[in-house]
Amino acid sequence: MRIFDIPNPELDNTRKMFRDLESDLRHTKIDLGIGIYRDENGDAPVFGAIKKAEKILFQTEISKSYKTPSGNLSYCNNILDLVLGQSVLKDRHGKIGVIQIPGAGSGLRIAGELIKSSTKNRCISVPDPTWRQQPFMFQKSGLSIKKYVYYDTKNNFLDFEGMLTDLNKLESGDALLLHGCCHNPTGADLSVDQWEEVAHVCSKIGLLPFIDLVYQGLGKGIEEDVEGIRRLVSIVPEVILTVSSSKTFGVYRDRCGLMAVITDVERVKASSLETMLSEIARELYFHPPDHAASVINILLEDVNLKKEWSLELNTMQKRIVSLRDKFANALQEKQNSDYFSFLNTQSGMFSLLPISNESILSLRHNNGVYLMPDGRINIASLPEIKIEYLSKIISELPEFN
Ligand SMILES: Cc1ncc(COP(=O)(O)O)c(C=O)c1O
Repeated sequence: MRIFDIPNPELDNTRKMFRDLESDLRHTKIDLGIGIYRDENGDAPVFGAIKKAEKILFQTEISKSYKTPSGNLSYCNNILDLVLGQSVLKDRHGKIGVIQIPGAGSGLRIAGELIKSSTKNRCISVPDPTWRQQPFMFQKSGLSIKKYVYYDTKNNFLDFEGMLTDLNKLESGDALLLHGCCHNPTGADLSVDQWEEVAHVCSKIGLLPFIDLVYQGLGKGIEEDVEGIRRLVSIVPEVILTVSSSKTFGVYRDRCGLMAVITDVERVKASSLETMLSEIARELYFHPPDHAASVINILLEDVNLKKEWSLELNTMQKRIVSLRDKFANALQEKQNSDYFSFLNTQSGMFSLLPISNESILSLRHNNGVYLMPDGRINIASLPEIKIEYLSKIISELPEFN
């Protein structure tokens, strides 16, 4: 008998999609599945400002000895400044515990463990729909999961009334997952006033918001994308926050982000909150990798590099807006209707196309066009020269005729 004599594991639909994509040898195939930003040539290049900061790190790094499970705290403070801004940081001075983590994906598990160990309900409510990895990680942490109405998938809009109705049914002590901006998979975001309304519901019922922020700068802009978060944090006493640097700094594979717990309790110290978080990290993976955190820290502390990075990010954001516009126009022209105008009102990389499984598979097999199995399309990976072709084959699908 052998211990590892295991059967072939059954792949889920997402992994099947990536397997099909990899084995598809057509050079015309279009990958609109994976969540990365690509330029017109289909490349996901390293930011120029990151390359320069890496050069500085290469010349100045004198040791690769261990840090601690809390990781690079200077990086964390610079990112918190970028996300929360000076006013919130001043207001919550000494009441924010933070650690660096290997990306927001890992943050989901840390948050799951934290919610399990510190709330009596051990429950989190997630938007319907949401990025599948989120409930998967929460469930693996032992949380029970509720869903709240978020998006009308038939009519392609944010169903805020439905959301408020469901939030008002939650119980004191429940955690509430909110996407910081550029909701994955719908691209439909709350307005700043809607963030404020959600904040008041959280305060009234006693909900614990957990904000997962991954796409700062790719929706409306670096400041605009976090306005809602700042408004919520100025109202709700306790908040959990994860921030990813994968997309905002293009360091996907280097694995870097942060996790923060924000409170207003007078006697609690930031260092105690940090220890609480780093103890969970120690149980799960011990120490985070340092490379991307050190590089981003160098970049954010250098006025010129920071400016160069923000210009690069702005260029990407503008290109996504322009691709959305061109794609929506091309589809509307073919359809002779304004049905696809929702693509223009949504933000960031993703939108959800209201198409059937059969059509998703037909696009994949007949046309070499890869969407996620739920119909999510990554507009930030769409080459402009393919828009005409893509809108033609989409408008010929049975659901649009
Ligand atoms: C909503 C959301 N959370 C978390 C992540 C994971 O990000 P990271 O690369 O930092 O692990 C993603 C990435 O696609 C995401 O869309």
